[in-house]
Amino acid sequence: MIVTIDGPAGSGKSSTAKKVAEQVGWHYLDSGALYRTWTLLYVMGGMDLALFEEVVDVHDITLSVDKHGTEPLLNGEKVGDSIREQRISEHVSTVSTLQAVRDKVNAEMRRIVQKHNFVADGRDLGSVVFPDALLKIYMVADLDERAKRRFAEMEKKGIPASLQEIKDNLAARDATDSERAIAPLTKPEGAIEIDTTQLSFAEQVSRISSEIQQKL
Ligand code: C5P
Repeated sequence: MIVTIDGPAGSGKSSTAKKVAEQVGWHYLDSGALYRTWTLLYVMGGMDLALFEEVVDVHDITLSVDKHGTEPLLNGEKVGDSIREQRISEHVSTVSTLQAVRDKVNAEMRRIVQKHNFVADGRDLGSVVFPDALLKIYMVADLDERAKRRFAEMEKKGIPASLQEIKDNLAARDATDSERAIAPLTKPEGAIEIDTTQLSFAEQVSRISSEIQQKL
């Protein structure tokens, strides 16, 4: 079974999905982490985008799942927090426009949902990847609020960042993610929209958990 939470960057999807997964005893699936890991490979390779798309097939980015959660592996190696750095955030929306990358990410997600129950977050999960999900959520929040949250998150992890740079990056990613031709960010059909600007974290979690309980 899968519950999908889609929405723009920094709307609170990942922290909420993680907590909801914990509450219902499922795993958390971070689809953005897979796109970020493909972007790490792109940045490390220093190739132009068209050439990179041609070598996508010779690499493997998988998700390892254990009782502590899910973690992306790049050709079998852990990538840790390197995928959260600003240099990755700057390129991820461009790399995510590549059909070859999207095909690999979607195949990997569809493979692991055969084995476990997931609460997953992303941009196109309810609309394209898992249209038959048990429950679909579309989570939004004001840009300023999203930038503040992301800044606090990065500070906590000790990753250097500036609030203005984060805000500019979120706005740019919103535009690229919503306007791309393949699998754009959109409210999936049948999704429940939740605006988290004024909601506390506990309210977001309990709202989604209770929606899941009603479906089970
Ligand atoms: O969730 P996160 O902000 O880490 O995602 C990073 C980027 O990965 C997004 O801005 C988007 O370009 C891409 N992405 C996507 N489809 C998904 C999840 C993420 O295109 N399902």
